[in-house]
Formats: sequence, C-alpha cells, structure tokens
Amino acid sequence: MGVRIIGIGSYVPENVVTNFDLEKFLDTSDEWIRTRTGIVERRIAPPEMATSDLATEAAKMALKDAGVTPEELDMIIVGTASPDMFYPATACLVQKNLGIKGKPCFDMEAACPGFIYGLEVARGLLHLPNYKKILVIGAENLTKFMDPEDRATYVLFGDGAGAAVLTMDDTPYGIITSHLGGDGNLGDLLYLPAGGSRMPASRETVEKRLHYTVMKGREVFKYAVLNMQKAALKVLEQAELKKEDITWLVPHQANVRIIDATREKLGLPPEKVYINIDKYGNTSAASIPIALTEMKQKGLLKKGDLVLTVSFGAGFTWGANIIRWG
Ligand code: UT7
Repeated sequence: MGVRIIGIGSYVPENVVTNFDLEKFLDTSDEWIRTRTGIVERRIAPPEMATSDLATEAAKMALKDAGVTPEELDMIIVGTASPDMFYPATACLVQKNLGIKGKPCFDMEAACPGFIYGLEVARGLLHLPNYKKILVIGAENLTKFMDPEDRATYVLFGDGAGAAVLTMDDTPYGIITSHLGGDGNLGDLLYLPAGGSRMPASRETVEKRLHYTVMKGREVFKYAVLNMQKAALKVLEQAELKKEDITWLVPHQANVRIIDATREKLGLPPEKVYINIDKYGNTSAASIPIALTEMKQKGLLKKGDLVLTVSFGAGFTWGANIIRWG
C-alpha cells in the first residue's frame, strides 16, 4: 500500500509582469535579473485576489483531474507563508469556496517547502482509518509582502498555487520516500519582521516598512545549495536508488543557479531537470505543484517515472521526496 497523487492542478494570475516592467520603477535591469536568477517574467495577483482565491482554482483543477468531488475529501491542507489572514486558516476559506463543510482543514507554514511538508503530513495521516482522500495545496501571494522599493527582493517572487489530491492504494505508484529538515538558527536570513506577536503592527512598523520581507540573499543562496543537495542525496539513499535512476528532478524554483548547482551535485544532465522559473519567478510553496501540473499537461510525466522533488525556504526548512509517477 502506498500514498499516491491521483490528481494535480495549478493556477497563476493572468497579470504578467516582465523584467522590463520592473525597470520602469526599480534600479534594476532585465539583464541583471535574467543572468542572476533566470527569471524573465512573473505573475502578480491583483490587489483584490488573495491566496485562497488562487488556492481554490488550483484545487478545482486537481479535483477534476482526480475525478474526485469536494464532498469526497477528508481533509484540506494548505502550505503557505502568505495566508489571506492569520486566522481563519486559508484552508478553511478554500473549503468554503469549494462548497463543503465539516472536514478538517488547516494551514502549514513551512515556507517554500510547504507543499512537500504537506505531502508528508498527508502521507502519514492517510495511514489512519479516518482519511481516504486529502487535498494538499501550495499557494502563495508573496508579492504583497515584498517591498516594491527593494530591488533585492521584489524582482524575485511571483504569485500562484498548485494542488494535489492524495489517496492510499495498492498500486506500485506514489511517494516512495521523503525527507524533511529544518534549522531555526538560520531564521534571520529570510523573515518578515512585523505583524506577528514579536512586533505587532503599529504606525511605526508601517512607516519603517517592516511588513515587507527582509533577506540576506547571498547567505540564503549558500545554504539553499547545501540543503537542496543534502536533501536530494538523502532521499536517494533512503530509496536505495542511484542518481541515474531518476527520470526528473523537479526542484523549487528560486534561482536557476541554485537549480544548476543541485543538478550538478546529482550529476544529472540538464534535460532531466524541469525549469519554469523564467515564467513565474519564485512562487514559494506553489512552485513544485505548478511545475508538476505543467509537466503533466505537456505529457512529460509517464507512468513509472521516478520524480525527485526538492525544496528549501525560510526557517530554514527543506524537504525532498521521490515519487513513482502514475
Ligand atoms: O525561496 C527562497 C527565497 N530566496 C532565495 O532563494 C534567494 C537566494 N539568493 C539569490 O537568489 C541571490 O543571492 C540573489 C538573486 C538574491 C542575488 O544574487 P547575487 O549574485 O547573490 O547578488 P548579490 O546579492 O551579491 O548582489 C550583487 C550586486 C549588489 O551590488 P554591489 O554591492 O555589487 O554594487 C547588489 O546591490 O547586485 C546588486 N543587486 C541588483 N542589481 C540590479 C541586487 N539586486 C539587484 C537587482 N538589480 N534586482
């Protein structure tokens, strides 16, 4: 018996913002962004569109793909670092949007690996008798938490959502193994200072722009490469697989140079790595399910393919899993 993804979906807002658009109000250039990150454009949600709106669209697509009705779901988990509000949980808002009630629903804040963390939690719970079908969503509206005057962060992020329906069955397909990790000592490399209980919102926090993300980019880069590599090697070891057994590496899309470094460590050729950061920027917890959905739509994922997903993010948190697709 294994836990399998039986449907997948994604949603990105229509509004495309190119690097050239950013040049108009930031001291940056298409050339810098493209060469340092691999990003060409990103989608930015309009002011009235919140994370639950993106998540709901991705959820509907995943449910349709799975052939599952919202009523059949036993739980909704949303991995997000940019919820609609502190409470209620974004997952509860998605539940309402799907027209159902009575099911457990909660958010999981694990930053960019939020979807991978969500898969692991769902995988564990699906072994209990109460849960047969769980919807896991990675959804972000992080551009609203980036300072439009800070070129070091604003150019990097995009909005979007991806979702998967999971169940347990006796096919040979599904999640083979996972590894999750974290290190709170690295918390000050990437954080959002104000708005929480440490620094509640005040006139001063707004004036000092403390409701926007603070990041030590170069340091994050270093630990990202290290932890992505370690996590990927760990799941290979756990699954007793060789690097060359992997059909697809689907990494978190934060920077094409981080992706390249991970790929090189694994000794995989570029054609085995799925990259779409050029179109969406860093969509945090949404990046991996968006990539998987695109790959499925393009017919790139075949039954039996071994897919290695790996991610890292604020916290620090990291995670990886190997999925036998089908
Ligand atoms: O999901 C996790 C989220 N975070 C990340 O994944 C971020 C990881 N880090 C990175 O991807 C890279 O460190 C960045 C893309 C953020 C920065 O690239 P870098 O090669 O590490 O550049 P840097 O921070 O060392 O900055 C180099 C120069 C600096 O100028 P000086 O001091 O050399 O004159 C920056 O001020 O580039 C400047 N710079 C920019 N220039 C044009 C920083 N941002 C920009 C910009 N446009 N947008």
